[in-house]
Amino acid sequence: MTPTRPTPTRLVLDVDTGIDDSLALLYLLASPDAEILGIACTAGNVPVEQVAANNLNWLGVCDAPDIEVAVGARIPLVCPLRTTEDTHGPQGIGHALLPDSGRRLSDRTATDMWVDLVRRHPGELVGLVTGPLTNLALALRDEPRLPHLLHRLVVMGGAFHHPGNTTPTSEWNVSVDPEAAKEVFDAFVGLPADRRPIVCGLDVTETIEMTPTHLRRLADAAGSSPDEIISPDDDSDVRSLADNTVVRHLSDAIRFYMEFHRTHDQGFLAHMHDPFAAAVALNPSIVKTRPATVDVELQGTITRGTTVADWSGHWGRPPNVDVAVETDPAAFFEELIGRVGRYAKSVG
Ligand code: BDR
Ligand code: CA
Repeated sequence: MTPTRPTPTRLVLDVDTGIDDSLALLYLLASPDAEILGIACTAGNVPVEQVAANNLNWLGVCDAPDIEVAVGARIPLVCPLRTTEDTHGPQGIGHALLPDSGRRLSDRTATDMWVDLVRRHPGELVGLVTGPLTNLALALRDEPRLPHLLHRLVVMGGAFHHPGNTTPTSEWNVSVDPEAAKEVFDAFVGLPADRRPIVCGLDVTETIEMTPTHLRRLADAAGSSPDEIISPDDDSDVRSLADNTVVRHLSDAIRFYMEFHRTHDQGFLAHMHDPFAAAVALNPSIVKTRPATVDVELQGTITRGTTVADWSGHWGRPPNVDVAVETDPAAFFEELIGRVGRYAKSVG
């Protein structure tokens, strides 16, 4: 008898691609237990048109199936847009220069795509947001039952017992659009425990430190040559010579991210926030979580965009999210290297 394959997790992604969003996308494309039904683009790391182009071009580089990519919010709900090319490069993908895929964008908006997909697959989809939460907040306005229609939501965002990476207390995805983050977290108040979003904040995602050795091992797993060695001593114009296309582009993207982290005294490494959230979306058991009532500071003169977690019921409001508190980074990287390495080998 032919063994039956387990049903893959069906996902809607909402991204601001972004170097780590890029690796999250590759990780999911590489995962036989994942099926991406749609990719919503939001402005964040770079403007939304660039986010959309990056997604289409990665799909092209990977010769991936024709996954719907929908353009979403160009600006946050209330405040002006900030982008961060110093973190992710002029086009959001570090030093990588991806060929134009020639693929077309969806003719509907990201909000319409979210709403349509959750209505068509009630109780089935996992939503994964690795950018500002603007699109999802707009989708919730159109479809308030969305928290009930999703199987699960996983968000990369926030900082809890941890300093911020955008202001002293706020994390980028929440800081770019604090009103949207608040609308999303508020929408999950009163839901049963198994419907609470898993929120992966900097407390955990900054333990996901990708080093040049990880990248070298990934390239080895892909059968790429020559050896993929990114050195902190390289001249600024050094680029990958990998004969594997996926490895070459990925390496050029990640090199930029490592240079950025070094500039900020974090070492020659890269925090892979979004790939970790992607792994949680496929397998929540890789992370220990703690229920909390989470709200977002909107008024503070120096704390706007800060995620505040009430762990002890001070506010008298029930928990609305499960906050990620602990994981095994080494196990995560084993899985990532194996999956993306094998996938890159199969793509070439
Ligand atoms: C988040 O901010 C973005 O720059 C990254 O892509 C990630 O989603 C980390 O704070
Ligand atoms: Ca991101």
